[in-house]
Amino acid sequence: MTRLRLFFAAWPPAQAARALARWARDAERATGGRVTRAETIHLTLAFLGEVAAERAAQAIEAARSVQGRAHPLPIEQARYWRHNRIVWVGPNETPAPLAALAADLKSALGQAGFALEERAFAAHITLIRKAREPRALPALPAVDWRVDEFMLVRSALSSEGSSYETVERFPLAA
Ligand code: 2AM
Repeated sequence: MTRLRLFFAAWPPAQAARALARWARDAERATGGRVTRAETIHLTLAFLGEVAAERAAQAIEAARSVQGRAHPLPIEQARYWRHNRIVWVGPNETPAPLAALAADLKSALGQAGFALEERAFAAHITLIRKAREPRALPALPAVDWRVDEFMLVRSALSSEGSSYETVERFPLAA
């Protein structure tokens, strides 16, 4: 039986992704590790893990039932997490429409029988993996990121890292 590694995420506009990738290459001088490529930078909303391929349709149906709102995503802080050795950036506080979107998605997926993690949603964009703890991180650039859609994404892992394929897109109302 084919199994797919699936998650829901929001992707930054190309210009925002480039600015974040540039920042990450700069930060890497203090942390080492593996920098996320510009085209793979994303914000995960819900992680499904490995699921049977035929269940993708149920995940899509669940996501279609979610009524999300488009909103800006301010990139205000850069942090290091010791527990998984990543450098991430994100908002100081999760924007209310984003928190609602993640919660509604989780609930719709739960009703469709997907078991999601119990941990509270923490809006973070991973930019460096296998990083050393830095003494300091560079100042963040101005990043213009409006979340106006989210997608179901399939992840394929290889020795070069993850590659992602969009399975379905879900627009958010303005
Ligand atoms: P991360 O950036 O914090 O590693 C694709 O793998 C996306 O799903 C990544 O953004 C990753 O978050 C997230 N992810 C991977 N494994 C996960 C898990 N077990 N629980 C929640 N999110 C996970």
